[in-house]
Amino acid sequence: MLTLGIETSCDETAVSLVEDGRILSSIISSSVHLHAAYGGVVPEIASRYHVEYIYPVLRKALIDADRVLKNIDLVAVTSNPGLPGSLIVGKAFARAVSFAAGVPLVEVDHIHAHIFSSFIDREERAFLEVAFPFVGAVISGGHTSIYICKSFNDISAIGRTRDDAAGEAFDKVAKIMGLDYPGGPIVESKASIYRGKDEILFPRALLKDRTDLDFSFSGIKTAVLYYWRDSDKGEATIEKICFSFQEAVIDVIISKLKRALEHTGLNKLAIGGGVVNNKELRRKITQFSNEQNVDLFLPKKEYCADNAAMVATLGEELYKGS
Ligand code: KG4
Ligand code: ZN
Repeated sequence: MLTLGIETSCDETAVSLVEDGRILSSIISSSVHLHAAYGGVVPEIASRYHVEYIYPVLRKALIDADRVLKNIDLVAVTSNPGLPGSLIVGKAFARAVSFAAGVPLVEVDHIHAHIFSSFIDREERAFLEVAFPFVGAVISGGHTSIYICKSFNDISAIGRTRDDAAGEAFDKVAKIMGLDYPGGPIVESKASIYRGKDEILFPRALLKDRTDLDFSFSGIKTAVLYYWRDSDKGEATIEKICFSFQEAVIDVIISKLKRALEHTGLNKLAIGGGVVNNKELRRKITQFSNEQNVDLFLPKKEYCADNAAMVATLGEELYKGS
């Protein structure tokens, strides 16, 4: 079965061709450079970019996969959640393609697609059926949530952020210190230069109540703001803040994931989303999973952030199961 996946929920215009779970092509064109000056995604700019780039991105995805439109058996598109104007472009385009090709259209939840991104294009995919139930998590610019995943369409949230998402906190902290957007990769690279201990110890929110699986990252953002305001604002200080901030965020994420595993009695964990690009986060989650005998599934780097391969692969599974 050949599935065409379309993803336009935020600032990435992405199209992918997937054949029976194998990725033939995954093209992503991002408008991130156009939002950089604003320190965050501007919905109107993102929508206009999707309108302009969705067709060339589709063409490239077809060429790279060495397929034509009439080979397609299924169209899968991100339906929710996302920026309304951006989602509309992808959905309207997907409908037009499914109509023109005379094939069914399946709608995919963006968050669910992130959860299953760990199983894309690798041997564990064959393991997916027996992996259920597992604890799934999405740590991205828009979401920081934990789920119990019992099947492809039985996914229930057990923890969510009460304010900022983890990626959003990286972006806002970078902005406070005058660093570029998106902040995540920059904060990570500054943190990696720092050679000292975590001297600042930024607050770790919502850790006292051991049953609480929710997140809150707005307090740490404010703590960075005050620390920065009273600092010398030098390069060494930036590196120190980035390091301590990253330590605090990773600490909280790992504590909450540990709790989710304890709370559910499960020992399998799959995590997706842009923040999973972070090498220190990956290292610490891998270390804790090894220590606790947890089966851990992390996406390949190219499938952490928004992409259409995750939409096509989950769309194919949902269609086959329907
Ligand atoms: O999954 P994604 O592309 O978009 C959403 O669905 O939200 O995630 C983007 C987020 C941004 O906030 C970005 O700063 C963050 O992921 N991010 C990182 C890293 N790379 C991207 N955060 C921390 N460390 C990174 N290396
Ligand atoms: Zn996303």
